[in-house]
Amino acid sequence: MVNLRVPLNQRNDGTIYRSIYTVKTLVNHERYIRGIYYLNTELDRKGFLFVLEGIDGSGKTTACQQLTEILLNDGYDVVHLREPTNESPWGKEIRERSPQGELSPSEELDLFVKDREWHVQNRINPALLAGQIVLMDRYFFATGAYQSGVTGIPWKEILRMNREDIHAPEPDVIFILDVDAETGLKRATGRENKANLQFEKLDRLIGVRKVYLEFVEQDTGIYKIIDARESLEAVVAEIYDTIIQRVKYRHESSQR
Ligand code: TYD
Repeated sequence: MVNLRVPLNQRNDGTIYRSIYTVKTLVNHERYIRGIYYLNTELDRKGFLFVLEGIDGSGKTTACQQLTEILLNDGYDVVHLREPTNESPWGKEIRERSPQGELSPSEELDLFVKDREWHVQNRINPALLAGQIVLMDRYFFATGAYQSGVTGIPWKEILRMNREDIHAPEPDVIFILDVDAETGLKRATGRENKANLQFEKLDRLIGVRKVYLEFVEQDTGIYKIIDARESLEAVVAEIYDTIIQRVKYRHESSQR
């Protein structure tokens, strides 16, 4: 295993990275040695992949919808995708059976990964190849954050499965819409939180949030934490600015 202990840095726009070029070289080197086919880093593809993640009630779905509208109005070629999908047989199964509590943690994990593999091959990769801006409402980081707690499988292993086994492409930026679990739950359920009824859910969201914040510290992806207690307008504006900077930066550097 390559040791990825490279210090954290912060860009002017607030995104945190761990000397990504060093990390990428190490990761690619390791994958090369292990013979793993590696495609679609944010450096070698035409399109862009931006992901909004966060606990339930963090506002990512509404933010994603608004960002899509604004970027389309600006004239960008944008596609808005969400996971779990409601297109693949596995995504449909999750949406039907999960709310009834019918799925075991390992069945759930398996379905999320199969649904994602379908999504990568049929929607995400084709959009990236066509040069579109892909905005995603949840991606494999949600599987790392939600399924690690219930299955007991470490989140690092869940992210690895997604990256290496199903070749899920790496996002340009992962936005973590961060809000405390109480606020998230209150927003998601649309009413005051009654601790006795919601304890299990609250406990779970506390764990999920903790894992999202661990990604920022320990994972190799490019993350930006967004304070989701702010107004929706402020959240959308901050994400929008970062997206525009990344898109313009790539266009400018490709013209040099
Ligand atoms: P959510 O974003 O709330 O979808 P929607 O608003 O369309 O219903 O996601 C539904 C739930 O699925 C949410 O509680 C998180 C969970 N989830 C996982 O547990 N693992 C995953 O990999 C994904 C994508 C979602």
